[in-house]
Amino acid sequence: MVGPCRHRRRGPLLRGAQLLGGAPLLGGECVQQRADAVAENGHRREFELGDDEFRFLAGFMSRETGIVLSDHKRQMVCGRLVKRLRALHLRSFAEYVELLQGPGANAEIENLVNAITTNITNFFREPHHFHFLHDHILASRVAERPRRPRVRIWSAGCSSGEEPYSIAMTMADVLKPNDGWDALILATDIDTNVLRRAEAGLYPAEALKHIPESYRKRFVRRVPGDHDKIQMAEELRTLIRFRRLNLHDDWPMKGLFDVIFCRNVAIYFDKPTQRKLFNRYADYLNIGGMLYLGHAESLIGVTDRFEVADKTVYRRIK
Ligand SMILES: C[S@@+](CC[C@H](N)C(=O)[O-])C[C@H]1O[C@@H](n2cnc3c(N)ncnc32)[C@H](O)[C@@H]1O
Repeated sequence: MVGPCRHRRRGPLLRGAQLLGGAPLLGGECVQQRADAVAENGHRREFELGDDEFRFLAGFMSRETGIVLSDHKRQMVCGRLVKRLRALHLRSFAEYVELLQGPGANAEIENLVNAITTNITNFFREPHHFHFLHDHILASRVAERPRRPRVRIWSAGCSSGEEPYSIAMTMADVLKPNDGWDALILATDIDTNVLRRAEAGLYPAEALKHIPESYRKRFVRRVPGDHDKIQMAEELRTLIRFRRLNLHDDWPMKGLFDVIFCRNVAIYFDKPTQRKLFNRYADYLNIGGMLYLGHAESLIGVTDRFEVADKTVYRRIK
């Protein structure tokens, strides 16, 4: 068991720092230096995430979202939640836990979940996945010349949208508008902060380097007056529906999907939760439909309803 995580409480430190005189506090570094100075004077106070509070938070997250917080995540949890304690003017994690058990819980759960989720993502992350989507899945659909030209893709755990926009660029490249394709991407996440960013479709200009050159002109727009930002083209945005969905809850979708992306999401869940999730994905895929997982995830030995189609891409067989 790792010892309790401590995080400096900024409120009293600010007062202490002000007593020390000098310029107003501007950045984290300044706060840090002054905090140390205050500590030398013996006034330092800290937030401590003790065993009981950490166990409560870990149990809560596991029940609500499936996310497992093992003991080595304690430091991370402490660091991320300190901002919530400050925003709520709470003095301790014990007060935070009390809030989560009281009538104010509902208002805070969304913030707690948003703070704990890990949202790392990128455009065209694992490029081989998009080559397979382009050259095999979508190109085969076009070659079949279906009577009902329809494609449904779900990006489950879409984070800030880079994944569904990458799918949309790939789709728009293969499916020609004049062929009457009815194509849609459902993009869901539990975290409302990242969903807001995804819906806006605005990204730092440096993200451009992850987008294939041939797609940049077609699908990425400059933002007038802001050289540091890029925006996804309207053509892509109309292909995607962003929704909040907790994968741990019931799913309201009715139809079946051709492809489900659930990459780098299940790694945060325990094995029984993963098994249940992957079997539910099978229920939501057409026979022959594809499930994409992240590079560190696998279905081998987890469910027999899929076969390997490509590297970390699985085909539903039953
Ligand atoms: C590391 S990101 C992966 C983003 C993207 N799929 C990729 O591979 O680049 C994991 C995402 O899963 C979401 N997530 C975690 N638990 C979830 C749950 N129970 N329901 C829905 N989304 C969840 C997180 O909010 C986060 O945005």
